[in-house]
Amino acid sequence: MTYQSQRISHWYFKAALLLFALQVVLGLWLAINYSYTLPQSIVNVFSFATARAIHTNLLVLWMLLGFMGGTYYIVPEETQSEIYSPAIAWFQLIALVVTGVVAIVGFVFGWTQGRPLLEIPRPLDAVVVIGALLFLFNVGMTMFKANRWTVVQGTLLGGLLFLALLYLFGIPFYKNVVIDWYYWWWVIHLWVEGAWELVTGAILAFILIKTTGVDRHVVEKWLYVEIGLFLFTGIVGTGHHYYWIGAPKYWLWFGGIFSALEPLPILLMMIDTIMHVKKRKLEIKNPFTFTLAVGCAVLHMIGAGVLGLLHTLPQINYYTHGSQVTVAHGHLAFYGAYALLNFLVFYYAMPKLKGIEVYNDTKGKIAFWTMSSAMSLMAVTFGIAGVVQSYVERMLGMGYMTAQHYMRLWFEVTLVLGIFFFIGMLFMVYDLFTLKPAKVKK
Ligand code: HEM
Ligand code: HEM
Ligand SMILES: [Fe+2]
Repeated sequence: MTYQSQRISHWYFKAALLLFALQVVLGLWLAINYSYTLPQSIVNVFSFATARAIHTNLLVLWMLLGFMGGTYYIVPEETQSEIYSPAIAWFQLIALVVTGVVAIVGFVFGWTQGRPLLEIPRPLDAVVVIGALLFLFNVGMTMFKANRWTVVQGTLLGGLLFLALLYLFGIPFYKNVVIDWYYWWWVIHLWVEGAWELVTGAILAFILIKTTGVDRHVVEKWLYVEIGLFLFTGIVGTGHHYYWIGAPKYWLWFGGIFSALEPLPILLMMIDTIMHVKKRKLEIKNPFTFTLAVGCAVLHMIGAGVLGLLHTLPQINYYTHGSQVTVAHGHLAFYGAYALLNFLVFYYAMPKLKGIEVYNDTKGKIAFWTMSSAMSLMAVTFGIAGVVQSYVERMLGMGYMTAQHYMRLWFEVTLVLGIFFFIGMLFMVYDLFTLKPAKVKK
């Protein structure tokens, strides 16, 4: 750590880790809901829908806090200057965490907009927008004042701006449900397959430049290519969500073709990351960071690229739409692309923020392998449940609850895997909160 104001990011990371822990607990609760028939008295007070809303909103919140913390860590080093206003950064962290907590408590009491992933009510949306504007202002001002532009900075700022703008489309409620869903996807799809990919590209490029010592131009060159491809395929690829909502028919073609091309930039990103890492592996002090970078690249590819491709064509999506196949993809894509990216940032920056050069990475490795294996297998079990569901509901035409009966075994296995994931998560959270310098041999 070179700049004092980078310290703020440490608090963003700590908040993100605690919210992640809570998210996983709710994931276990959801799996229990699917595996057992709960007493109605519990369902009346704390329904599946409420738990699901908390699980997914916490996911979005902790990841955004991680990205913001990452940005506050990276920007001073890239611009070679302190953050424009540390006070704004503090205010914004507190405002977002308080909003998150109020939203979760609100969900339990039925204060919700009802639209999946964007359940938080309108007044809280206003706080989020103010928080996002302050964040952009702070980051933008730091960059403009320093005036030492790099591709990493430009991509990061562009991605964050895009991210904030898209959120606005999720705020109004349209009476026509088709239009409402149409714009809902602008937030959901264009976030994870557009804006967040840009932020990921920038953060990954920064960490690779710093840890491998590879020439900046080499990394920046592929950043251009990937960004172009992500935007080209991702924006029109939104059409893979317009097949069955009442949007015009041509989306079957546009959505199918462009989204089928989406794995391409992800594949490129994977190849590039592995190439850079391979070249420089031996000289690096904390090779665990590389395990995370490669893990992120590979599981991003499998979760988003491969599992996404599997159900992106309308001919297949007709049967799997909204089934547990979608859940399988949603989990491994979010975990591979964005959870692991966040863990990479945490393990890269948190030791530095504590002034630790080399740390003992045993607990981190146990956590990484446990969580990654459990989540990969969960994608398989959710996936099997989804295939069973698609067959029983859509080929045989049986009812929703009849299909649940045939799927239950796979939810029970998911629950067991979820417990392993939970243990891995505990290892990581404990490890990151208690990092100490390793005794270096030599
Ligand atoms: C890191 C990137 C990605 C993430 C985090 C992600 C996550 C998700 C999530 C959470 C959903 C469920 C949304 C809902 O219905 O509530 C979803 C749906 C979907 N994703 Fe992705 N995704 C990513 C990339 C991709 C890519 C690259 C493709 C195509 C190649 C793809 C294809 C799809 C399709 C077709 C659906 C709709 C499934 C349905 O009809 O039920 N995704 N994605
Ligand atoms: C112990 C670990 C976890 C378990 C057992 C679990 C379980 C579940 C369950 C049962 C659902 C509801 C699916 C439905 O509506 O039918 C769900 C939703 C979801 N979870 Fe998890 N989860 C866990 C961890 C995670 C993690 C770590 C992430 C992200 C990195 C995540 C991301 C999501 C997403 C994006 C959805 C919405 C999926 C969709 O709409 O298709 N979960 N989870
Ligand atoms: Fe999508």
